[in-house]
Amino acid sequence: MCGIVGYIGKEEALGYLIDSLRVLEYRGYDSAGVALLDNQKRIQIKKSKGKLGNLINLTDNATDLHGSVGIGHTRWATQGIPSDINAHPHSNTDTSVVIVHNGIINNYLELKEDLIKNYKIAFTSETDSEIVAHLIGVFQNQGLSLKDSLIKTIERLKGSYALAIICKQEPDKIFLACNEAPLIIGIGNNQDLFCASDSSALLQYTNKIIRLKDLELAELGRNGEYKLYDLHSKEIKNPEIQILTGDPLLLDKAGFKHYLLKEIHEQPSIIRKLLSSHLDEDLNIQFPEVDSQILKDIDRIIILGCGTAYYAGMVGKILLETLSHIPTEIEFSSELLARPVLANEKTLLIAISQSGETADTLLAVKSAIQKGARILAVTNRPESSLASLAKKSTVLIQAGVEVSVAATKSFTSQMFCLYLLAIKLAELRSDKKLSAANKEELNWIKGELRYIPQIMEQALSRAEIYRSKILPFAGRHAFIFLGRGVNYPIALEGALKLKEITYMQATGYAAGEMKHGPIATIDENIPTLSILLPGPTYHKTLHNCIEAKTRGAPSLGIVADGDNEAIRELDVIFPVPQMPSSGEIKALGHKQFEDILSPFISVIPLQLIAYYLAEYMGKDVDQPRNLAKSVTVE
Ligand code: M6R
Repeated sequence: MCGIVGYIGKEEALGYLIDSLRVLEYRGYDSAGVALLDNQKRIQIKKSKGKLGNLINLTDNATDLHGSVGIGHTRWATQGIPSDINAHPHSNTDTSVVIVHNGIINNYLELKEDLIKNYKIAFTSETDSEIVAHLIGVFQNQGLSLKDSLIKTIERLKGSYALAIICKQEPDKIFLACNEAPLIIGIGNNQDLFCASDSSALLQYTNKIIRLKDLELAELGRNGEYKLYDLHSKEIKNPEIQILTGDPLLLDKAGFKHYLLKEIHEQPSIIRKLLSSHLDEDLNIQFPEVDSQILKDIDRIIILGCGTAYYAGMVGKILLETLSHIPTEIEFSSELLARPVLANEKTLLIAISQSGETADTLLAVKSAIQKGARILAVTNRPESSLASLAKKSTVLIQAGVEVSVAATKSFTSQMFCLYLLAIKLAELRSDKKLSAANKEELNWIKGELRYIPQIMEQALSRAEIYRSKILPFAGRHAFIFLGRGVNYPIALEGALKLKEITYMQATGYAAGEMKHGPIATIDENIPTLSILLPGPTYHKTLHNCIEAKTRGAPSLGIVADGDNEAIRELDVIFPVPQMPSSGEIKALGHKQFEDILSPFISVIPLQLIAYYLAEYMGKDVDQPRNLAKSVTVE
């Protein structure tokens, strides 16, 4: 989503701003802009619709663009179409106050009307953000300082905001403020200060940060001095300085054409990393970063997430209920926000978010905390807002930076962490009451988890086969994905990947639901892709697939090597390797677990299918239209 950056110090700000925006661009890329304040108190703004490259061309050609105080922005449009005019920064009428804004001002129309009526202000953009610059300007014209003008402005705002502000009257400062949108100060090593809406943009300059809390303000000065205030203008003494541990973001495709393809291929090594940090030689599962008390005496689990994180949570629900027998619900974060959360101190709320900054998820977590629920975060970002809400109970998915907007490696690593958690909870819950059969099953699953990286690698080595089999379908306008049980969420995820990066209509269904309506849409133009891996639901799904084929749909399937029945029935098969001991659990009499690990295998061809179709169709694979990596507004 939108990204904010800022620099104040003794050097030229522009390079810092552009390099920081480069790091944030993958998160929102409708337009970008910078504003610089020079020694003569002149403010210059450069902004441009489209990718950051357009802004860089503009700034490269601007010889007079100087200043050691500056702010910048990369935009994902919420209010006002992507355009040069709607790009940030925005200013008041005489360009004495310039702001960049992330978030949504809910009451902007009312404020805008007031500014037009009472102050005769002419607006230049369609954004909600512009009102902030005008309001601050109005208060400054009444003789207030920038700090007091900002406080007065904030008192009038309803909604979410992260704001960075520069102004001519106080040229040696950047002011910051936030509410329900992240904003971070970076403390530089040369008496300089940075700010950003995401710490990843700061890591190239400093690892010392201060995370602003809701309704806090910050004043950054030229000599590295900073002060934080509350809305009563009272200074907040000794704000907590965090030390970041990550490495600067290396934007490197490692020889792959797109980040997406690189990230798909990184999955086996990430699962290996998770195995070595969580599963020891004796098959004990460890979560050193989780307060073990929160996993005990739980009577209900709520999982929440958005998009791909939600689908990982759906798989998690099945695992948790199957293995630990704890009633588990899965909710879209936005839906949990739409009604009162029924939670208490025996409820474990598992919030899944790659970025740890998704607004809906953060708000839902905050509301569950108020009800006393225990919070467990599953995230890729230890320094994220979600991790700080979950305090000490964060499971890190260790996926490394995911640059491509379409989530792939974060999905499988989220799922893997949920598998480990489900087994751990099953062990903790039953403890002595575990029957021999239960222990046997859990140990078998733990043993099998170790094979996942190599099986994923085998599936990845078939990428070319999958590519050649899917390209003939590149002209279709719609696709249907079918799955059952643990592979139903994978069908939904496969459809999401396809629609995100090819813009095709792709819908995932629980295979058993086809006859209850969706089959009416079937015809010879809509390929139906079914996940048909060995397990208790295999034959039922195969029948659903044949029913669609009977009505003309080209039938495609993700099938296990050597599945002659599927080869006979289907038009096109995408063969995947089988787990080495997949027959064992059946032989042990626990047939219901035969396909329990299959999501890690079935998702690989689905990710590759989406990638190869998008690439063939010439789509912007890593930065699809209308999307953003981190959705920081509701
Ligand atoms: O950062 P999060 O995991 O909270 O993001 C959630 C969704 O926005 C994200 O998974 C989105 O659906 C992806 N674009 C899917 O590919």
